[in-house]
Parts: sequence; structure tokens; C-alpha cells
Amino acid sequence: MISPYRSPARVALGPMVLIALVVGAFAAAFAYTAGWFLPERLTPNKVVDAFAPPGGPALGHRRNHVKGICFTGIFEANGAGSSLSEAPMFRPGQYPVIGRFNLATADIKAADATVRVRGMGLQIAAPGGQVWRTAMIDSPFFPVSTPQALYGLVVASGSKDPDAMKTFAGAHPELAHFGAWAQSAPWTGSYAEEPYNSLNSFVFTSASRATNVVRWSLLPSAQPVAVPPDELAKRAPDFLEQEIAKRIKGGPLRWTLVIKVAEPGDPTADPSQEWPQNRRAVDVGTLIVQAIEPEASGPCRDINYDPTVLPTGIGTSNDPFPAARSSAYRRSYDLRTAEAAHYPATTPEATP
Ligand code: HEM
Repeated sequence: MISPYRSPARVALGPMVLIALVVGAFAAAFAYTAGWFLPERLTPNKVVDAFAPPGGPALGHRRNHVKGICFTGIFEANGAGSSLSEAPMFRPGQYPVIGRFNLATADIKAADATVRVRGMGLQIAAPGGQVWRTAMIDSPFFPVSTPQALYGLVVASGSKDPDAMKTFAGAHPELAHFGAWAQSAPWTGSYAEEPYNSLNSFVFTSASRATNVVRWSLLPSAQPVAVPPDELAKRAPDFLEQEIAKRIKGGPLRWTLVIKVAEPGDPTADPSQEWPQNRRAVDVGTLIVQAIEPEASGPCRDINYDPTVLPTGIGTSNDPFPAARSSAYRRSYDLRTAEAAHYPATTPEATP
């Protein structure tokens, strides 16, 4: 019976309020479980904002690895990769690639000679529409073990507190290993002379459903020539782009794609730790870079080299980085594509 003391509107509102309360309680429980209430939760926005240099980000550009130049070419598979993965681009044949040589800095004004880590974004396409995207760097391991630690490192390195880096390094001993590499590894004068390493691990699944945890590297066929850093400092601020655009005129540039297979106990979730040198390594084909194109008008500009964009036969592993990278790259991509007017595709850039 309807009470004479309650209006019809209030009667109808009763169940609505109850439903709202129930839905709200579920949402709160979900948000709590997802960690949304934790102030220390790492969000893509927080991470991407942290990369910004003191003068702010270069609008329309990538929020990290901001300097770069596009290339096109092919991946020539020799068929050996099919024993490990059913990915279509491992079947013998040639597959088109769109890539990007780049520098690990968020500062678009950084001179090439001041940036220690160089990288490559790569997309290999197979007939039928499947693509494999990967973004690799030339160091043999990552500076830190977790995505949270990378955020901490970026914050510490941009901090005004003179002790911030010392405090961070004290809490992250793996950083010293990277520091030793950065101090001692030779510099080269060309993107063509660098290896590019996935560092993150992935799971390969073969047609017979065998699975292996792997990492991959592109090993250059060009002989690396060490150039003292003070000699590089005398070169033009964008000498790497200029050099690669000139070098390609002498013919295509090649890298061998090598897949390294983990053994039980290898640190598959931690890219700051190298796997032992004696792990099985399978040469699966050759990346052939045929043309260099300016970034602004080239085909790599609007590609998001999200490392979780994978074909059948390649999946993510227990390594937490690819998922964290995926959400940060998407945030960066969303920002830069919305700002496209600041980086128009017609901008004349380094002429290959
Ligand atoms: C949680 C860890 C990481 C974060 C938050 C992060 C963040 C970013 C961001 C925001 C971009 C720009 C993406 C875009 O706008 O398209 C980027 C690009 C890039 N990152 Fe990372 N990164 C991480 C780990 C790594 C690792 C482990 C590697 C190498 C093994 C790497 C290599 C690269 C490369 C090569 C690019 C340039 C790709 C391109 O040319 O588009 N990053 N990163």
C-alpha cells in the first residue's frame, strides 16, 4: 500500500536511490581494487607529464624519444623464426616495414651528441593485416627494473633537489650497472652502426603450441666505429639524421634479427638484467632499410610503436613494462595527434 504521507515522485525515487547506491558501491569497490584511490598509483598521464623538459613538451611531437627520422624498407624472413612462433612475418618472404630512428630524450632541442641512448621504432606488416610493432634501444639492458622505478628516475632527474639522484640511485642499485655501461660503451657516429634491443621479454607460440619466453635484437651489418664524445660534440646538432640520410644514398642498410630464448630461472620480468650470453639465439631474417624519409611528412610520424601491438604467435610475458608502456605511448599519441597543427605534415625537414 502507498503511504498517504509520501508523494508519488518520492515513491518512484526510492528504488532509483537504492540502485544508485548499489551501483556506486560496486564502482567504489572496483576503483579501490584498481588502486585509483592510492596517491602513489602510476597513471599514464602522470608518467607522460613527468617526461616534459623544463620549457614544456614540443607540441605535436612524441613525449619521449622526441627527435627522430622515418625509414621504410623490408623484413626478409629466412623461415627459421617459424620454429618458435607462428607469426606470419616469420614465414620465408619479404614484408614491408615502416620504422623510425630516434633519440631517448624528451627535449627536442637536445644536440645529438648529448643523448646517450638511441632507439628504433619498427612495424613489420604481413599480408592479411597483422602487424608487429616494437620499440627498441641500443643499450644492452634498461636502467631500472620496474615501470614505477622509471617514473621515479624521471622525477629524480628533473628534480631541483641536488640529492634527488643520489637518493634514487641508493634505492635502485641496478642503476649503477647502467651508469657503468653509459660511461664505458663506445659512441658511434651513425644510427646504422647501432644494435637495437627489445629488452622486454615476450612469449612466442609456435604452430605446435610450444611456448618460449624471448627477447630480440637487431644487430647491424655496418661495422661500429667508435667516435670520442668530444669529437661528436663538434658535429651539427642533428648530425645523426643528416648522416643516415646521406649514408642511404650508398645503398640499403641491414640488420640481422636475432631471437634469444630464455631458460628457466632467467629474469624474464626485469629488463635491467641481461640473460646469460650462452642462451639459444636464432637468426630469423634481415631488416633492410631502403629509404629515409623526413619525420613530419613521412609514414612513421603517426604510428604509435606500442610494444603490445603483436601478431598471432607473439604475446606479452610476465614483464610488466609492455602494458605500462602501452598506456603511456597511447597518452603521448593522443596528445600529439590532437596537437597536429603544431607539427604539420608539410613541414620541410631534413632532406634525405
Ligand atoms: C614504463 C616504461 C616506459 C615508458 C613510460 C616509456 C615512455 C615512452 C613514451 C611516452 C614514448 C613516446 C610514444 C609516442 O608518442 O609514440 C616512448 C617512445 C619510445 N620508447 Fe619508451 N617508455 C618506456 C620504456 C621503454 C623501453 C623499455 C624501451 C626500449 C626497450 C623504450 C623505447 C622507446 C622507443 C624506441 C621509443 C620511440 C618509438 C618511436 O619512434 O615512436 N621505452 N616511450
